[in-house]
Amino acid sequence: MIVRQLFDSETSTYTYLLGDPDTGEAVLIDPVIDHIERDLQLLNELEMTLVYCLDTHVHADHVTAAGTLRSRTSCKTGVAATAGVACADTPLRNGDRVTFGGYTIEARETPGHTSGCLTYVVDNGNRVMAFTGDAIFVRGCGRTDFQEGDPQTLYRSVHQQIYSLGDDAILYPGHDYKGHSHTTVLEEKQHNPRLNASVTEEVFVDIMNNLNLGMPKKIDVAVPANLGCGIPAAPENESESQVPEVSPTTIVNRSVWMIVDVREPHEWEGELGFIAEAERIPQAQLMDQANEWDRNTKLLMVCRSGRRSRNAAAELIENGFTDVSNLTGGMIAWNEAHPVADPES
Ligand SMILES: [Fe+2]
Repeated sequence: MIVRQLFDSETSTYTYLLGDPDTGEAVLIDPVIDHIERDLQLLNELEMTLVYCLDTHVHADHVTAAGTLRSRTSCKTGVAATAGVACADTPLRNGDRVTFGGYTIEARETPGHTSGCLTYVVDNGNRVMAFTGDAIFVRGCGRTDFQEGDPQTLYRSVHQQIYSLGDDAILYPGHDYKGHSHTTVLEEKQHNPRLNASVTEEVFVDIMNNLNLGMPKKIDVAVPANLGCGIPAAPENESESQVPEVSPTTIVNRSVWMIVDVREPHEWEGELGFIAEAERIPQAQLMDQANEWDRNTKLLMVCRSGRRSRNAAAELIENGFTDVSNLTGGMIAWNEAHPVADPES
């Protein structure tokens, strides 16, 4: 199994990519909106198809990339059923399973940092790996003073749901602030100052209730955004700004879209060519034809530079289409990203 630990240095957040090299299916755990291009490029380079974005909880310090990645790929999103994220595809409860390739992820409810926290557990055949979010860090744990956090609940989650995985289980945290990457159950039982085996529940509650931390800088933005799958709210009266952009370098599987090229007929015959699968419909005729289509069709709009197609996409959205993206940079960028192979080489 492929395991990649990716880092957001602004919020010290870890994102994990898990992939099955045999099937090419992959999952991202806790993707961050600022790193969408990085993560899509890595998936592309590893020739992986994203099947799930899983959040360990509704984050207070950063915005999830789950909703945007769902619209950019064909993946589904999952988060705790108790987290209140109505737009998630798969509300997960204790013991629920998600598969990618030949691997299974078990969701374990580990509330306490928030009321809707999950730990994702995967057995890679040799070792049990647990992606703990903010339930436990290397030598620490997530705070319990907002989002219905509760120290007693967190103590029980760690001891009953995480330490029960066995001493050898590898723990991958949602954050690290001191340069660590991962740990094991045994290490934390021995050395975690808050959660080693000799710390009682009463002492833990006392520690957590006296941390006196300031609020995360982005909490007022991040929590509402994450309750909406992290999809940025569009400014009013600017329909163009609602159009999600798709970079041609990140497209692995073009068959997930109906691709619509809105250039004029002479342009299709020009040197930039056209994408083989594209429907070729000049912009002036677009709405006439689009009125025949299912409003939920997954559309990718294309033109020469990305500007006309962006307008066309905005018009479709205004007319009730729910899943329209724009090919950033149009055919110019497409040809740079997908050069036609020289038959002699
Ligand atoms: Fe958190």
